[in-house]
Amino acid sequence: MHLLSVSAYAFRNIEQVSLDLGAGFNLIHGDNGAGKTALLEAIYLIARSRSFRTTKLKNIIKTESKEACVRAEVGNESGQVRALAVAKSLNGTSELRVDGESVKRSSDLARYLPVQVLLPGVIDLVLDGPNTRREFLDWGLFHVEHAFLDASKRYKRILAQRAAWMKANQNSAFEEDPWVEQLVTGGVQISSWRNAFLQEMNPYFEDMLRLLDPELACSLAYIDGGYGSSEEEGREKLAAGFARDLRFGVSHYGPHRGDLEFRFKGSTARDIASRGQAKIIASAVTLAHAALLAKAYDKKPVILIDDFGAELDEDRRQSFLKALMSLDCQVIATTTDAPADLLEYKALEEIRVFHVKQGALSP
Ligand SMILES: Nc1ncnc2c1ncn2[C@@H]1O[C@H](COP(=O)(O)OP(=O)(O)OP(=O)(O)O)[C@@H](O)[C@H]1O
Ligand SMILES: [Mg+2]
Repeated sequence: MHLLSVSAYAFRNIEQVSLDLGAGFNLIHGDNGAGKTALLEAIYLIARSRSFRTTKLKNIIKTESKEACVRAEVGNESGQVRALAVAKSLNGTSELRVDGESVKRSSDLARYLPVQVLLPGVIDLVLDGPNTRREFLDWGLFHVEHAFLDASKRYKRILAQRAAWMKANQNSAFEEDPWVEQLVTGGVQISSWRNAFLQEMNPYFEDMLRLLDPELACSLAYIDGGYGSSEEEGREKLAAGFARDLRFGVSHYGPHRGDLEFRFKGSTARDIASRGQAKIIASAVTLAHAALLAKAYDKKPVILIDDFGAELDEDRRQSFLKALMSLDCQVIATTTDAPADLLEYKALEEIRVFHVKQGALSP
């Protein structure tokens, strides 16, 4: 999929900007504070109904405006075009539209526009806690496994219902727990999806890593959170952990405790990788995820990169660009550098460049 155009209104410092995007590499350049990240954030808002910068969406609305709005036209692999729109008001209300029709759920919009982001904080994927990694993994599953979203919501609901039941039934025995079967069935299903998806991603990850840094050896593994693909094992774990679950009022085993592990030098990258290595690993897995969706599922994501090439030396920047080009996805990247200083790769002539100045396009 790719974006044909995007328009942002009253979004951060942008009064109104419209971009006609190319299907390949698009570079947004401008000085600090020009509105480059704001443009990526606007695209992300269309795709995910939230910001990657703030949980307080009021912050995205331009000072003294009442409502921020983003519209986009998205083309899919078979040439169909959809018009997506999101508006966020100061009073906290949101409006989501697909082809002019109101839709309720952010997933109704998200399915038309898979975006993969590479932000300056990409390293958090390796160094942060498991939540970030689970979310990263599940985003891909949402796009390729139709039943995933509902299964995942159902699983979370059962976890909450079990927690409430445990609170009210402190003296009960494991055999009386009415939630075990549903929890285990749902849990095993989610774990198997994640596991299979990660297995599929591994060769792409190795390819990307080889392109980015051939010296770096790292592999991916799914940590299942106590039980994986066996319902039998799930029941046993829940039985063994029942007293503790009851005491704390939470379920200690299951895919909600799962993780994506970066195996590195006999340990995990989180514990021993340098910041530079962690950044390469995080970038490689992000590009691998995009490659898997594009090549195995025919769902090319749009890749948003903020501060393209920052902190990379010349060689690494060229390797990164090659890895990126190998995906054949639409890329929208920002930079403060002049494009000619940044890119020597032959694709430079194929890129579309936008210059942004004080929240507006400038020639
Ligand atoms: N709600 C808002 N209303 C008006 N202006 C805002 C709002 N939120 C942020 N800004 C301003 O918008 C400008 C653009 O911010 P943005 O982060 O997009 O800049 P940038 O081009 O990415 O700069 P840098 O190169 O420093 O990352 C900044 O001056 C910022 O202070
Ligand atoms: Mg920025």
